[in-house]
Amino acid sequence: MQVVIVPTPEEVGRIAAAKVAMAVRTRPDAVLGVATGSSPLAIYRELARRAETGQLDFSRVRAFALDEYVGLPLDHPQSYHSVIRHEVVEPLGMRPALVHVPDGAAADLPRACEDYERAIRDAGGVDVQILGIGANGHIGFNEPTSSFASRTRIKTLAPTTRADNARFFESPDDVPTHCLTQGLATILDARQLVLVAQGEAKAEAVARMVEGPVSSMCPGSALQLHPDATVVVDEAAASRLELADYYRYTYDHLPDWQRYDGRDG
Ligand code: F6R
Repeated sequence: MQVVIVPTPEEVGRIAAAKVAMAVRTRPDAVLGVATGSSPLAIYRELARRAETGQLDFSRVRAFALDEYVGLPLDHPQSYHSVIRHEVVEPLGMRPALVHVPDGAAADLPRACEDYERAIRDAGGVDVQILGIGANGHIGFNEPTSSFASRTRIKTLAPTTRADNARFFESPDDVPTHCLTQGLATILDARQLVLVAQGEAKAEAVARMVEGPVSSMCPGSALQLHPDATVVVDEAAASRLELADYYRYTYDHLPDWQRYDGRDG
C-alpha cells in the first residue's frame, strides 16, 4: 500500500486524479469504479477541468458505481443514479449508457446484484476503483463485519452511516435504511485502488485501515490485501498515522518512473 500525505483537501483530489488520468490515457475505454459522497468530489472536479481543457477524453470511458440506496426512485436527487450523473457523468463528458449504478429500485434486488456483478465481469473488470472511507471504516457500504469474500448484495446501513449521510437529506429519517453495495471481494478484484480521505473525522478510520490489523471490524483494512492500493490523505486525516514520517519519506524518494504528482497537465 502506498500512503501519500498532502497539505490540503484540494491536493488530495489533484494527486488522486492524476492516477485516474494515467489509466484513461493508457486505455481510452478504461473501466472506472466511482464512489459518491464528499471525499471524491475534488477528484471529479480536477478530472472535469482536464476534460474541459481537452487534456482528457472520457467519451469512451466506462464506469461502475460502488453502491446505491434501496427504495429511492432513480430520479430522487440523492439517489446515487442522480448524484453520479450530476457529479461525474455530466462534468466529465461521459456517455450515460457506459455508466452503471446498482438498481436499488429493482423489484428483485438479489437478481439486480447478480446482474451487476456479471456486468462488471463482462466489462473485463475495473481498472481503477476510486474509494472514500466512512468514519466507521466502511468502504462502499460494506459496514463493519462485512465478509472479505462478499459480492454485490443488499446491506443494512449502520445507524452511524445514516447519521453521517443525513446532511444530504431534508430529515435524518429520510435516509434509506438499506443499500446495494459492491462487496469487499468485488472491490479487491479491481486492478488498482485509490482511496481518498480528508479531515480529522476520518483520522481514526484511516489509521485502522492502513496500520491496524486486517479485520472485518474495519472493512477498509481489506486494502492491505491488494497489490496496488494508494491512499491519498490530507494532514488532518493522516494525523493518527504512526508511520506518517515514513510515508512522507517514501513519497519524497519515489523513483521517477513511479511519479504521478499531477503536474503533467
Ligand atoms: C459512497 C461510498 C462510501 C463513502 C463513505 C465516505 O459511494 O462508497 O463508502 O465513500 O461513506 O463518505 P464521505 O466521502 O461523504 O465522507
